[in-house]
Amino acid sequence: MELQQRVLFTILVFGLACSVHGIVWYEPEQVHIAIGANPDEMVIVWNTVNDTGESKVLYGSGGKLNQTASGSRTKFVDGGEEKRSQFIHRVVLQGLSEKTEYAYIVGSSLAWSNSFSFKTWPRGEKWSPRIALFGDMGNENAQSLPRLQVETMQGMYDAILHVGDFAYDMDEDNARVGDNFMRQIEPMASKIPYLTCPGNHEQAYNFSNYRNRFWMPEDENKQMYYSFTIGPVRFLSLATELIFFPQYGLVPIVEQYKWLKRTLAEANKPENRAKHPWIVAFGHRPMYCNNDDVDDCTHHESLVRVGIPILHLLGWEKLFMEYGVDLAVWAHEHSYERMWPVYDRQVMNASAQAPYTNPKAPVHIVTGSAGCREIHDNFTTNPQPWSAFRSLDYGYTRMHVINTTHLYLEQVSDDKGGLVIDKMTLIKERHGPHDPNPRDVTPKGDPLMKLWNTWGKYVNIDTYSKK
Ligand SMILES: [Fe+2]
Repeated sequence: MELQQRVLFTILVFGLACSVHGIVWYEPEQVHIAIGANPDEMVIVWNTVNDTGESKVLYGSGGKLNQTASGSRTKFVDGGEEKRSQFIHRVVLQGLSEKTEYAYIVGSSLAWSNSFSFKTWPRGEKWSPRIALFGDMGNENAQSLPRLQVETMQGMYDAILHVGDFAYDMDEDNARVGDNFMRQIEPMASKIPYLTCPGNHEQAYNFSNYRNRFWMPEDENKQMYYSFTIGPVRFLSLATELIFFPQYGLVPIVEQYKWLKRTLAEANKPENRAKHPWIVAFGHRPMYCNNDDVDDCTHHESLVRVGIPILHLLGWEKLFMEYGVDLAVWAHEHSYERMWPVYDRQVMNASAQAPYTNPKAPVHIVTGSAGCREIHDNFTTNPQPWSAFRSLDYGYTRMHVINTTHLYLEQVSDDKGGLVIDKMTLIKERHGPHDPNPRDVTPKGDPLMKLWNTWGKYVNIDTYSKK
């Protein structure tokens, strides 16, 4: 065969092969982990472009990959024009020992990932978790990410809580932005549990990128709210966004409220509160803030705080008070703010000298300054009395649950090279319900609220304002 004929033949064969088989991508990527339903479990999640026909994790302690676990995968089709698809694999490792370093690789007989590792937590409640908290971290301008990566590799954290708003936005460019974001967090999220709640930037196609990419404990149905424990803390991950996007359904808003009330009641049973005395709730949009935008938290009566306007149904603040939530962590505002203990817009400090020692109401912080393309949200020049500390620096929050009575928070400024710019120790010598009708609080309502207070007593309904 002439050389030209040979080249032509080769091109034809190659072209035919490509047209028959297409380009395949079996290589695992975007590896991240979350805790399972039981203390001896870890959930491993990753993506492949093509279906590998199996989902496997090889893992083991002592650097040996001598155990195998299998799981399943789902085909995720993005809602964008291209209808890009990929496969999201999920394997639950079971029977893990406590305080043990496990190496693992993920994949299938078609392709395997690099080697990763995680260390299991101590069993039980008597240990002191260290957790990184932040929200609003994007793909662009993720300023805090490198520092968080290094600190995670240095073993400074047992878990990360990402309090909503990822990637900006995961669905953009037919979900390629979501893929790139998940690749960027892989060094952290493959090493320690990366626990989440949804933000407004996840809302496209009924939160489909969020629901498909993350697998959270006790959230098999992808309702986007769930509860879990770390050491002596009961965490509640809440979906503030359900009430802001009612086009996706009204029933989930009511169902979440009922779940929250039920879960808080269960957490407050003496035997449960004895094991997990701290109750920490986290969700994306705050109840309180002092930013100069017109977001919900700047309103006199925010949706998250008091629920449906005028009727004040389905608000969460009274539940937090009744069931003694100790700390509420929020984001959405691209800034950091620490509040004094507050209820119904009134400061509830324990005392002037020690405001956070046995406070009479939950403490709120807003930590949404990890870094994203929307830069900062400035503060008002006239902050409300419940605002204790504010910063526009990019950064994140460290939580150290020292023991059953002391919970320490500090704010890291990435702008200032990792300097701690704020700190607070919440001391609770007795955990339990706060007084939901404290004498210090005079209900403050808008004119419509006053009307409801006058006439609402004739309606047999449990509202926020009926005290
Ligand atoms: Fe947000």
